[in-house]
Amino acid sequence: MICVTGASGTLSSEVIRQLEAAKARFRGTYFSNRPAEAARARGIEAVIIDYNRPETLRAAFQGCDKLFLLGPNVLNQSELERNAVEAAKAAGVRHIVKQSVMGAVEESYSLAKVHRPVEKAIESSGLAWTFLRPNSFMQNAVTFMGKTIRAEAAFYSASGQAKISHVDVRDIAAVAVKVLTAPNYEGKAYTISGPEALTYDELASELSKALGRSISHVNLSPSDLKSGMLAEGMPEAIADRMLDLERYIREGRASRITNDIKQVTGREPRRFAEYVRETAATGVWDVEAEEVTR
Ligand SMILES: NC(=O)c1ccc[n+]([C@@H]2O[C@H](COP(=O)([O-])OP(=O)(O)OC[C@H]3O[C@@H](n4cnc5c(N)ncnc54)[C@H](OP(=O)(O)O)[C@@H]3O)[C@@H](O)[C@H]2O)c1
Repeated sequence: MICVTGASGTLSSEVIRQLEAAKARFRGTYFSNRPAEAARARGIEAVIIDYNRPETLRAAFQGCDKLFLLGPNVLNQSELERNAVEAAKAAGVRHIVKQSVMGAVEESYSLAKVHRPVEKAIESSGLAWTFLRPNSFMQNAVTFMGKTIRAEAAFYSASGQAKISHVDVRDIAAVAVKVLTAPNYEGKAYTISGPEALTYDELASELSKALGRSISHVNLSPSDLKSGMLAEGMPEAIADRMLDLERYIREGRASRITNDIKQVTGREPRRFAEYVRETAATGVWDVEAEEVTR
């Protein structure tokens, strides 16, 4: 039995879809009631957990030999995920597949400071592990940038002309599902990228082509971008974490292209143009569309 945490989220919901298609035995953990109820209506075993309440975790993981561990982007994410590692061990989980981040081992990078302590806790737990370290999701064009793309035909960064090898969440999920359902992936860390590295200007141009209207990338100074994030209500420490990601990108470190998706799944990763064409057809970037946060 596989337990998938964050089951309503961008990545884990796709992991669940692919596990369903593979007819694997799994259960999803949900934080909010509504997505859990929707999952149950689809015939999925759904359990409510709160990483802040460790007593909810052990029961949820009981009877699972594999755990897909994904934490939310909150201030104490590291601590929450470490609660889950302890609970997994106590519940008899054998193998943890952890959603991490590209650059997890690069010291002084804000997102490494979130993810690497959890990886270390898993390594020293005695459990088997596999780490997925993906680059930024293509789906961020909906979840993070969708609002201003709809309202202002623009999106904002402080990344300048740096290139990023964005990856489609469906390809990360395919790696996760393979690693969760087949042997020989334990003790390995995968750095997961898309097949090409593009600047945000190039992303804007692909969006413009797919939507048939002009979408702009507006490059801001880090301090102006931070002011915008704070004005949107983002906690300052999270804004600083995101600004450090922009620095990481500006330094060219998010432009790496790896072969790990092909190596694990046997398939080529999707290109941004393909993702954008398919997603544009759903209307999610149309001016009158509702906000989608994941
Ligand atoms: N976005 C990127 O480009 C990117 C790139 C690399 C790595 N990552 C990493 O990927 C992860 C985020 O993935 P995502 O965007 O797919 O996640 P997401 O869509 O933000 O979903 C987060 C999930 O966590 C659940 N959750 C929130 N608070 C919880 C709590 N207290 N206890 C238990 N569950 C809780 C949410 O449940 P509800 O729906 O019920 O609230 C939701 O299912 C982060 O670790 C991030 O660092 C992201």
